[in-house]
Amino acid sequence: MQVSLKIKQQKKVGVKNLKRSNRLNIFVKRHWLRTVSLLVLIALAIFLVRARPVKAPSNGKIAGGSSPVMNMSWLKIPGAQLERDGLRINPLGRVIVEQDGSGSQANPPVNAAGSHFDVSGDFEIYASFINASEGGASLQYYSSPPIIYDEWRFETPSVRFYINDNGVTASIWDGTSSEPVQTHLFAVGGSISHLFMESSGGKLTLYADSRKIGSMDDHKIFSSGHVWVGADAKSPGPGWTINDLHASGLGKGTASLVAAPTLSVSHVDPNALRNLAQKASRPLKIGAAITLNPLMSDDSYRQLAGGQFSMLTPENEMKAQFIHPQPEVYVFDDADAIVAFAEANGMTVHGHALVFGEANPKWMQATPPSQLQQVMVDHIQQVVGHFKGKVAEWDVVNEPLSDDDSNSGSSVDMRDTIWQRAMGEAFIDKAFEAAHKADPSAKLYLNEYGLEADGERWDSLIALVGRLQARHIPIDGIGFQSHVYEAADHEDPAVLKSHIQQLAKLGLLSRISEIDVHGEDAVAQAKEYAGVLGACLSEPTCTSFSTWGITNLYGSTTDIGSYPLDFGDDLLWDKNFQPKPAYGSLQQALKGR
Ligand code: XIL
Repeated sequence: MQVSLKIKQQKKVGVKNLKRSNRLNIFVKRHWLRTVSLLVLIALAIFLVRARPVKAPSNGKIAGGSSPVMNMSWLKIPGAQLERDGLRINPLGRVIVEQDGSGSQANPPVNAAGSHFDVSGDFEIYASFINASEGGASLQYYSSPPIIYDEWRFETPSVRFYINDNGVTASIWDGTSSEPVQTHLFAVGGSISHLFMESSGGKLTLYADSRKIGSMDDHKIFSSGHVWVGADAKSPGPGWTINDLHASGLGKGTASLVAAPTLSVSHVDPNALRNLAQKASRPLKIGAAITLNPLMSDDSYRQLAGGQFSMLTPENEMKAQFIHPQPEVYVFDDADAIVAFAEANGMTVHGHALVFGEANPKWMQATPPSQLQQVMVDHIQQVVGHFKGKVAEWDVVNEPLSDDDSNSGSSVDMRDTIWQRAMGEAFIDKAFEAAHKADPSAKLYLNEYGLEADGERWDSLIALVGRLQARHIPIDGIGFQSHVYEAADHEDPAVLKSHIQQLAKLGLLSRISEIDVHGEDAVAQAKEYAGVLGACLSEPTCTSFSTWGITNLYGSTTDIGSYPLDFGDDLLWDKNFQPKPAYGSLQQALKGR
């Protein structure tokens, strides 16, 4: 105020009538005053800009860690690599296709096999990175790892931050839909190298490079008290690097890093299926389809998986769309983690499935037929080669017979798949030959459903086996999927037994590969399970009996796309991990009663 008054007074006096020295004096004075006022204005502007909230890493107890390399090893993001400057996140472009090959629900990698945070009250997560804005980086914080049910991924509550040169796009899933309940772009100019997420008072507040960029309702996504980390990169793209990721409690809140569980679990219970099966009059392996996310995040599931079973089949993790999402990209980490669990618990691994008409990534579906043989053989070499010595047996070809039992008079045709279209039945020959070459000691199976009853399907299978054997294809056995989805699928143990015997005469092994039984009537369900196990037990060439899952909580017969989840009732344990009568009936069958 004083400054402007003085200027006004001087203006009134006028410069013209004054002496030269005085004029200079006034000139200097005027400019000095102008400079000062300008400086004051600039300082005020800077002060106002900087007055926006600034965020610095909290001094509170920190959980997590930063580069150098050692401290980042708790993050086991599939497809990522530890490098000198941090954890490199590579683009995987992993999506889930539906049964008919359409659809593409994103399936970004999750740190399921590594550690996670346990949090209470207010907390913050700090991440710092290199080349995120340039590469297109996605960082996701989940309340629990998502679950893959049947060709869809149940989105557990989570928040995802997608960072590119527009800023940070935050999307929130609240557990009620596969789509985010809210998505918002927080525009930021230039590239970002730090992101803070503060969770407090029902809000998620974001800071990019220390500046607050906005906040959003948290939709209670962290009420589970857990935060699991996922990270992905725009595909195709150069990827990006995380060099620090840690959480801290705010105020009375807490955050701690919880190490991945010990893989080996107790299996001393003499009445556990695996122990009864080992002592059975005719010992055999008892298996289950196992999926990684619950294995690492749910103690009850893990206890049953290792405690009850002596064999496992990765439910989805070895299928092409998961393990080979892009032509040049193989992601073995999830399957490796399951194999490590099996090793820690003395379980045999049955690999599933090398060549299948379903679960093929888009790029495979779009490959010109003339190149498909090469793609198939390369895929088999890479996958079988990777697991050589660790995976004892493979479903080399899964479900080669047509779904449509009535498409030709007396036999079932081959299923119309990319493989069949490209190579005709010879795809089966090539697949078995490639698998045998990649691991000569692995047992090689052809796996199919609906083989338990007499009829055209069984006849077609036997005819196919005859042709394969005439061509000296190295096939060791047949998997009977044994899905009993409805009453009409009821299996007659006597017929099943005769089919196993028929294969034995051809020098082939059998296994019950994927049994699950509809469970509206728990007693009938128990009888069905026990009948099939009885048939298998009575035939020395029936090498194993595997259920397609453990608990209804994660069962593949859960209704597709249902939020909230609408569980099936087909497995041995209900969704609360209570054993069903079917579990008891299998125990009895193994005891020979
Ligand atoms: C199912 C899985 O259980 C689901 O999680 C997945 O989304 C789709 O595939 N026959 C097979 C298995 O050979 O691969 C199928 O598994 C079940 C039917």
